[in-house]
Amino acid sequence: MNLELDGKAVIVTGGSKGIGRAIALGMLAEGANVLACARGAEALAALAAAAPKSGGRLETRVADMTDATAIDGVAARCSEAFGRIDILVNNAGSARTGEFLELDDQAWLDDWRLKFFGYVRMARAAMRLMERGGVIVNIIGAAALNPRRTYMIGGAANAALNHFTKALADEGARKGVRVVGINPGPIMTERLLKMRAGLIGANQGASDAFSRMTPLGRVGTPEEVADLTMFLASPRAAFIHGANITIDGGYTQGLMG
Ligand SMILES: NC(=O)c1ccc[n+]([C@@H]2O[C@H](COP(=O)([O-])OP(=O)(O)OC[C@H]3O[C@@H](n4cnc5c(N)ncnc54)[C@H](OP(=O)(O)O)[C@@H]3O)[C@@H](O)[C@H]2O)c1
Repeated sequence: MNLELDGKAVIVTGGSKGIGRAIALGMLAEGANVLACARGAEALAALAAAAPKSGGRLETRVADMTDATAIDGVAARCSEAFGRIDILVNNAGSARTGEFLELDDQAWLDDWRLKFFGYVRMARAAMRLMERGGVIVNIIGAAALNPRRTYMIGGAANAALNHFTKALADEGARKGVRVVGINPGPIMTERLLKMRAGLIGANQGASDAFSRMTPLGRVGTPEEVADLTMFLASPRAAFIHGANITIDGGYTQGLMG
């Protein structure tokens, strides 16, 4: 299938590691031009070193998605470097686990500033510059659909982002901007390793815990999420709008997702 991503101008937030890195590399291989941003310059340099030689052009930018000025700077840089923004992948995010009574206001505010408000701000900045239409893909999380007492901050932010995706699709339809969300279950990245270590106490036994995490008996790979993202961002998915799609090896057992 030709995804027709060749020459598209793509922003990937949190593009230096994990899922974002796989999306950036996948988009480049498809011939798209990619602006990848993250806080750490070292991992961005490693991404540049791994970029396919014959693919699209890669630009990297150090930017913190909790900072409104930095967010506007990312959108402006994409327009400047590639002449437009066709696709935004909102991906930079994380939220802590913890006991409800021990997580204070600041913990909620700090994590929502990145995982919820970072997505809202970046979508607004990019949509303003999507003069010829575009696509916004929000990488959210299956925790939205599986409330757990020790992951309330992230789960609630993800639930809000599922709503935001649908409401933004309603807005985007008026401007030719397609909006979709992806709810990954457990995906093997640095972040998952850290979260698991926090939840089960240590890396000891982690592989058993991982294999029990989904009915398929394994966790997903960043590349599997990247493949779904690229399809949804492509013109081949032109009639998929306002949908939040789960990719979780069967982890979510409710009817929605
Ligand atoms: N892995 C999973 O199991 C899983 C499951 C469900 C949902 N998700 C969601 O998928 C997304 C990616 O997760 P991942 O597992 O790939 O994470 P990861 O491996 O930890 O990578 C996160 C990326 O985001 C960047 N980042 C973090 N904080 C940032 C900030 N304030 N500003 C800009 N960039 C920032 C990181 O680089 P720097 O640290 O250098 O900034 C890195 O490039 C997240 O939104 C996560 O909630 C993941």
